Parts: sequence; C-alpha cells; structure tokens
Amino acid sequence: MVQLTINGKQIEAAEGTTVLSAAKQAGIEIPTLCAHKELTPFGGCRLCIVDVQGFRVPIASCTLPVSNGMVVNTETEAIQKSRKFILSMLFSERNHFCPFCQVSGGDCELQNAAYAEDMTHWPMQPGWNKYPVDSSHPYYVLDNNRCILCRRCVRACGELVGNFTLTMAERGASTLVVADTNVPLGESTCIKCGTCVQVCPTGALIDRTSAYQGHDLMMSEIKSVCIGCSVGCGIKMIVHDNRIVRIEGDWDAPVNRGVLCEHGRYDPMNEKRNRITSPMLRKDGKLTPVSWDEALSVVADKLKPLAGKEHDGLAALASTRLPVEALAMFKELFADGFKSGMVTSTEEGMTTASVNAVAEKAGAFEGKLDVLKNADVVLCIGANVAKSHMVAGFMIKRALPKGMRLVNIDPEASELDDLADVSLTPKTGSDLALVEALQAVIVKEGLGRAPLSIQNADGLIEAGVNASGVDAETLSRVARLLANAVSPVILYGKGVTAQRDEKLVEALLDLAKLTGAVDAERFGLLSVKGEANSVAAAQFNLDKQFVLNGQQAVYALIGDDFVSRRLAERLSKAPYLVVQATYASLVTEKADVVLPAALWSEQAGHYVNMDGRIQTAEKAINAPDGVRESTTVLAEVAMRMNMPIKQDWNTSLRTRKASVTLA
Ligand code: FES
Repeated sequence: MVQLTINGKQIEAAEGTTVLSAAKQAGIEIPTLCAHKELTPFGGCRLCIVDVQGFRVPIASCTLPVSNGMVVNTETEAIQKSRKFILSMLFSERNHFCPFCQVSGGDCELQNAAYAEDMTHWPMQPGWNKYPVDSSHPYYVLDNNRCILCRRCVRACGELVGNFTLTMAERGASTLVVADTNVPLGESTCIKCGTCVQVCPTGALIDRTSAYQGHDLMMSEIKSVCIGCSVGCGIKMIVHDNRIVRIEGDWDAPVNRGVLCEHGRYDPMNEKRNRITSPMLRKDGKLTPVSWDEALSVVADKLKPLAGKEHDGLAALASTRLPVEALAMFKELFADGFKSGMVTSTEEGMTTASVNAVAEKAGAFEGKLDVLKNADVVLCIGANVAKSHMVAGFMIKRALPKGMRLVNIDPEASELDDLADVSLTPKTGSDLALVEALQAVIVKEGLGRAPLSIQNADGLIEAGVNASGVDAETLSRVARLLANAVSPVILYGKGVTAQRDEKLVEALLDLAKLTGAVDAERFGLLSVKGEANSVAAAQFNLDKQFVLNGQQAVYALIGDDFVSRRLAERLSKAPYLVVQATYASLVTEKADVVLPAALWSEQAGHYVNMDGRIQTAEKAINAPDGVRESTTVLAEVAMRMNMPIKQDWNTSLRTRKASVTLA
C-alpha cells in the first residue's frame, strides 16, 4: 500500500491506483470529463488537474499513479482558476449553447461541471466552425458541434464493445469523431448497441427516442434486469409519466458492467405489436371482449375436468421470458396439480435439456461469464454470440486485441468467423466426431492436463476428419492451441444443445477437463442458454419437446414473448386453446380464450441468467387498466379449480440439479 496526503488528509491506496481514484476512495471528489470508471485513463480534458508538491505544473489526476509521501491538493486557488479556464476553453471551442441542447439541465456533464465552478456565462467569445450533424443512424444523432473530444465514445466502442467503429479524424481544433473511414454513422459498421451514447458527457451523441422528452431531473430511474436473452444484463429504466423513456446499462451490474446490446437498449422502445387489454372469449367464431370473471369461469369450467389426466387431459406451455415466480406457479399448477404429462416451455428445452441431463449425473459443471476476462484461448462451438447473446460476444471481441485467440466452430457462417484465429465450418451433425477427434489429438500428443482414456486415437482422428470435412492439419492446430492455452474457455450454444445429445455435452466436458478449461478450481466451460429464464424453466423441468397427442386443451402462457410460426401452427391444432399473452399474435388469433398479461416491465420478478445468477427485475410502470400480472391470473385460475399454490419458487428452483451454481 502507498501512503499519501490529499487536501491534508492522510490516506492509503493500493499501488497502481490513480490519484483520482485514491481521492474518490477517500471521499474527495475531483471534477472530471474524459475519465470513466469502465474505461482506461486517457488524460484528454485536463479538468481533473491537481497540485502535487514538487511538481512544477498542475497534473491530470486521472492518469497519475499514487506514490509514497505524495502531497496532493485539489482545491488551491490556482487549481480552481485553471479549472475554470479549461471549462471556458471547452465552452468556446464548439457549440455548447446549453439552452438549445437536449441534455441541458440534467445529464450534461460539461454543463454540470460548469455549474459546480459557479460559472454562469462564457468568459470567452465562442468561435467555432460549423460541422454537419450526422442523423443517418436509426437510434442516435452525432453532432460534432457539441463534442469536447474526450474520446469516451471512441474508447467505449473499442474497449467495451470490441467493435472499433468510432474513431477520430483531422487534427487539433478540427478533430472530429467519425465512423469507420468517415462514412455516415447509419451506413457504418456500428452494431447499434448505444454504448457511445451512454458514455457521451455532452450532447454530441444523443438518443433519438428520448431526445426532447424532458430533462433527466423530471425522470425516475429504476434498476432492473434486461430480459432480451440469458446474459441477464443489469439495466436502468428511465421513466416518466408511466412510460419508459430510455434504457441504459447499469454500470454497477456484475454481469455487463454498463454495456448493453441493441436489443436490450432499443427493442422495448420500438415495440410495434398490438396490446391486448381485455379478456376475450370466442363467441360465434369471433373473439369478443368479456369481463375477467366471465373469462376465468369459462377457463375453470373447461379445464377442471381435465385434472389428473396425464396424457389425454391438458397440455401447458410457458414462455422462458416470464419471471421465476410465474414459471414456478405454472409448473406447480399444471405439472403437480393437474398431473399433466405435457408441461413445458416455449423453448422446449432446446438450450438446456442435454445440459441439465449431464448435470443430473455430474453436478454443476459450467462456470461464469467472468472466466472470459482472463481467457487466452476461447473455443466457441455452435454459438453465434456476436448475434444471439451480443454482450457475451462483446466480452470476446474486446479481448481479441489484447491477445485472446478465438476458434469458432459452426456449420453456419457467423460474425465470429472474421474475428477468429481459426474458423471451422464442419458438416452439420459432425460435432461429436469433431470434439472426439480434438480429444484424440491432445491425448496422442501427450498434451492432456487430465487423464482421459482413448483406445484408438488415430481412428477417432480419422473419423473426425471424415465426418466434419475439416482437414487433419487444421484439426491438430486447434487441438494444440487449446491444449497449450493457460486459461482456455469453451463456450457452446444452441448449435450444440439443439441436437439434444447428452454425449456431445459430455464430450465437451471431457475436452474441457483435458485442456484444463475445467479443473477443481476453474470452470471454463459454459453454454449460453437461450432466453432470460431458460435456466429457471429447466430447473422446473419445463424442457420437454412440445407434442400434442390426444390432449383436449392447451394452456399457453406466452406473456410478452414472440411466438414462432412453427409453434403457432402446432398450437393451432389444439382442440381448445387458452392463451395468456401481452400482445396479439398468430396464437391469440386461434385461441378460444385470451387473457391479457402484464409486460415484463409492469411486474417485478426474478430471473436466473445463463451462469446461474438469480437477479431481481423491478416493476417500472403500471400495466394498462384491465391487465393483470401473470402470477395474479395463475393464482386466480388455481383458486377457481381448488388447487392452492404454495408459491415457494426458491426451493422449487433448487430441487433439480443445475448445470451452474445458482446464487
Ligand atoms: Fe482527467 Fe479528463 S478526467 S484529463
């Protein structure tokens, strides 16, 4: 530890800490603009200057490491004067005429810094050149006139997202933020994650959806969890007047540390589906609005006689986007109460069934996304994470420039192919043979870090080559890369799990042990799962394939999920269909009873992400009149059929062995 004095206060800080961080830890705030807690220090704006005894000039504290005996003063008269001067220069260099800027009066860090220094006017005459405003992007506007050249956006695009779309062009006072080779942002390689907008301290990058909707001071902020996929990113919902104005990544969230993808940030803002706000019954062939009492009576009368019939009674299906509480109730009502043999989820265990089957035997064998932080080689198999689980993809993409090696195995072309050191496109269905061949190379060459008995290594290698179409040399290269890695990670996805082949998952586990990806202390094997609550659904055994075979009715709890055409077609064959859904869809069109369901942001609940974190999603807005939460409706249905529900989701969640540690 290092001892130093800041503003007369003796403090201690770990070696390598910057003066800015040490001061913050000691409760001393130093104004900043270009610094950001998730970005590497840059030292561009100079607002964080401090006086250090023995130094001739003020020094930027965000890039200055602490040293023993250092004496720092953050509030001398000279420092305060210099700070005002720096701010005056920033204001004069571009168009920072606050009253006309959408971020004025709330989240403009430049304006707030000026107010903190008691600045009420520009001491210097502004004299900026006019730059064209780039409004070519569907979600945000880039206005270089309001830029202070802090490069937070450029750094975030590279360091946090690994996309490297934004960069700087020109020199000196003419420096500009540009996309790629100065193409319009909307035509660039931008992946629309919005991280640049979130880190921008001024109005240079503004969000089109929330712009001019009111100042942040008028809004409330609700921390929650994104339910776009199983990564489970922490979010902040900015709410005004019972409406979500904007979604931001939560910088304190353990999974994503502030970063979000396009789907998490913008999809909920662009919802186009038609909302269902009243219960409906099919009368004379037409769905007709009715009261809750009438709809629930009809449901209870129709379903009650089907209780206890395992195969020819009721089939039930629930979305994996529902909170754990709703899934637990659903399982308790239909699997335990009705004793139906066909109770499952909309994912039908596609991403979890084979994984959980292995966990039943091996216990928890998968790790946390955090393992990617220190991975030097990542084998990605059947998982297009750059598209399906984008934030997990960012974790890989941003590590590549730091030296991480990537092997991508996918029969389908994937975004990761261009980034990978080795990209294999094996023949469909050859994964098991390929993984066994990789094991065989490692064992044959004596590179294994754990024992694995392989009788006929040459035969397995040949079989792998023949089945996959990958040549023996490339296969050996991949095997050696993995075996020689210090911290390898194997990431697998739907391409593997949809095969429902337990043996393939076991083979991946063996490969992980053989390469040291998994040992007694490290769990460098993980599957990305599917939707927000895939893991919870699997824990409730909602992972069967949905087959209608003689059942007299189906209860489909869709919530706000999207329904595939294939599933809609199967559901349309139900003799009697009850659908609990937020939006009108192909499924509600065919239903005999439709019950409106609250949207994810209209109800609180828990979600278990891909690596087993049990996280809380908060209610941010109220549902429209007449719409009830999923659990309220299920409880009412249960009550009308005299099947009381215990509602102990936490115990129920842990009844089955999981592939990940649930906590
Ligand atoms: Fe230190 Fe910008 S915050 S130079």
